[in-house]
Amino acid sequence: MPFRWNPDLTPNDVTPEALFRQRRRLIQSAAMAGIGALLGLNPGRVAIGGEFMTEVKKGVVTLDESVTPFKDASSYTNFYELGSGKTDPSTHAERLQIAPWHVVIDGEVSRPVRLALDDLLRPHALEERVYRLRCVEAWSMVIPWIGFPLGEVLKRFEPTGNARYVAFETIHDPDHLPGQAQRSLEWPYREGLRLDEAMHPLTILAVGMYGRTLPNQNGAPLRLVVPWKYGFKSIKSIVRISLTEKQPPTSWNRQAPSEYGFYANVNPNVDHPRWDQSKERRIGEFLRRKTLPFNGYEEQVASLYHGMDLRQFF
Ligand code: MTE
Repeated sequence: MPFRWNPDLTPNDVTPEALFRQRRRLIQSAAMAGIGALLGLNPGRVAIGGEFMTEVKKGVVTLDESVTPFKDASSYTNFYELGSGKTDPSTHAERLQIAPWHVVIDGEVSRPVRLALDDLLRPHALEERVYRLRCVEAWSMVIPWIGFPLGEVLKRFEPTGNARYVAFETIHDPDHLPGQAQRSLEWPYREGLRLDEAMHPLTILAVGMYGRTLPNQNGAPLRLVVPWKYGFKSIKSIVRISLTEKQPPTSWNRQAPSEYGFYANVNPNVDHPRWDQSKERRIGEFLRRKTLPFNGYEEQVASLYHGMDLRQFF
């Protein structure tokens, strides 16, 4: 069985209410007394690390595959703003300034907003979902993410009848992010989804992984996770979500359109022009595994692409 999706969990699967409330009181009083500031914690992290991370519904999506060790998932990363080597992002992680953090939601929505991260997160219940992440570079991992469906956020701000796509943008801060001082990519990093892909219940915004807040190198404080697409679609450190009528430009597609398509659905039958995509190396394993269509989520998402030639729309 590839994976189990259990959206209807009982209250027993959630952190006990009393514990959550007690924890929240502690955090509120700490914040009021300015203890967070004294400890060198910024308010955004206190809220995410405390109020929001304590109430996580576990087991919403599980997988019968070993979870990649946290050490690997947080040190072998792609985050070009922090450097193009795999260990650059963890080495330079502190350069990413994550507080205060605001997210703009605009474009084709009835209620455009600019929200502090806490206000964006507050109404959403957090869930733990174990997803595969398949990078276009033919390696993969299994990661227990903590997040909530992107579709719930989009509904909150009421897409208009013209909205057909969702565009995402990463922070642009060349004074702090060493990668943005170079032109390895066009900055800021941009990604996009079709509206129905964005509304699909498997698509999440993540704020944590492995039971803790996201490490900076993995896209703190807010990133996208789209498990059936190559990893580059899962944009990190999001500051803007815009609903659009037209298909938005995306970073890797602009960089090399023949290598990175807009759809980027994991497809073992369409090779990257420079390498085979039929197999992948799971980080921590020696032998390569077969790559699954849509990264193993075919049953859930293939219907989104009925009638489309996935060789053309790669
Ligand atoms: N988001 C931004 N802003 N910048 C990046 O360089 N790299 C992408 C994606 N999101 C990237 C990004 C790529 S290529 C991959 S494979 C995944 O992040 C990797 O996520 P992980 O490092 O948390 O495993």
